[in-house]
Amino acid sequence: MTQNIEGSTNWHQRAQQVIPGGVSSPVRAFKGVGGTPRYFVRGEGSRIWDVDGNEYIDLVGSWGPMIVGHAHPEVVAKVTAAAALSASFGAPSPNEVLLAEEIIYRVAPIERVRFVSSGTEAVMTAIRLARAATGRNIIVKFAGCYHGHSDALLVQAGSGVATLGLPNSPGVTEGQAQDTLVLPYNDLDALENLFAARGSDIAAVITEPVPANMGVVPPVAGFNAAISQLAKSAGALFILDEVMTGFRISRGGWWAKFATHEGWAPDLFTYGKVIGGGYPVAAVAGSAAVMDLLAPVGSVYQAGTLSGNPVATAAGLATLELCDEALYETLDNRAKQVGEAISTALSAAGVAHSLQSEGNLFSIFFTNSRVKNFADAQSQNIPAFNAFFHAMLENGVSIPPSAFEAWFVSGALSDADVVRIGEVAKIAAIAAAAASED
Ligand SMILES: Cc1ncc(COP(=O)(O)O)c(C=O)c1O
Repeated sequence: MTQNIEGSTNWHQRAQQVIPGGVSSPVRAFKGVGGTPRYFVRGEGSRIWDVDGNEYIDLVGSWGPMIVGHAHPEVVAKVTAAAALSASFGAPSPNEVLLAEEIIYRVAPIERVRFVSSGTEAVMTAIRLARAATGRNIIVKFAGCYHGHSDALLVQAGSGVATLGLPNSPGVTEGQAQDTLVLPYNDLDALENLFAARGSDIAAVITEPVPANMGVVPPVAGFNAAISQLAKSAGALFILDEVMTGFRISRGGWWAKFATHEGWAPDLFTYGKVIGGGYPVAAVAGSAAVMDLLAPVGSVYQAGTLSGNPVATAAGLATLELCDEALYETLDNRAKQVGEAISTALSAAGVAHSLQSEGNLFSIFFTNSRVKNFADAQSQNIPAFNAFFHAMLENGVSIPPSAFEAWFVSGALSDADVVRIGEVAKIAAIAAAAASED
């Protein structure tokens, strides 16, 4: 290794003495890929720097929120101004109203928004609402989709759970696990059969509109519309988890771009990531009829000391202000350029792979055939991915440290960044090819 990572190595040793695995979220520990995680101290635009001064082009983007790049001057200015007025009141403040109005303006079916601090909380609240609205218990999810780490949803989940190969987590009660039914993604027959057998027990179906926590797996045509229709006819709710895709795929997220013309809408949306611009903001949103079941209008309890925090919502507002049509056009182009540069490099080195995308979300599966579900995603050549990952990192390109994650472009990527990524990918592809032969 040519890169000096002494500082990161020291921090990681220290961290492991005081934080489980040294990390505040498991994928960061590099357990899937091996090696030492980098400790970052600064970001600007498309670049980030670690404690040893190594510079990287960032294709992780904090797993989605950094859509306009790091430390965007307009976001920094608004956050700084808000912070100077106080970090938190634990009382209503204007920024949360402005952010709710912006979300409602961008996504037609939404009439009410309740803010929380993480995607996990948003989904947990949506599940509670669905159960309260229907008086039923059963939740249906798809294998490989990740909806945060609440008990009901930690069954055959994607993201870090997939990276670490944990089918289910200890600590989730049998009762919770029994109330969650898991189906293979993109399998409409399985869904129809389940509704035929148990439709009247089902409180909600939850899905990512395009799963991006097992890598990016686009839905077959009409899949989300069919979920909506089946749920509706059985009196169940449809929760569209747009924590990843919301305001990333388009100005109004996945639904606004791909489903508006199909004539259906989910009962509840969940958001996170982009709506906080890197600060802890997430939300559950939907029609007034369902959302007003929440306390204090209704009796479904949900609360949070820092929910709707004025500094975090200022960051979200400033970020969304920058998320105009031009930005999404840029992101789509950049994603295409980066994806193709990687794919060309892998093809030239003879590495089997499948480039999959939906809008500007993409990932590369290290397998020959197109990935349609979690079982396909699990058939990847993990050693080849790991070799590719490390060669990219050591040459200054940070990609997700897992073969089961989406890659994220930001509006700050430059032409020079794309060229550099392509050059580094050639080196990394050779490393991946060598690992495939081992
Ligand atoms: C689709 C989806 N839902 C929920 C979550 C959980 O969000 P958080 O990590 O903010 O709790 C994530 C996180 O990656 C996600 O991608």
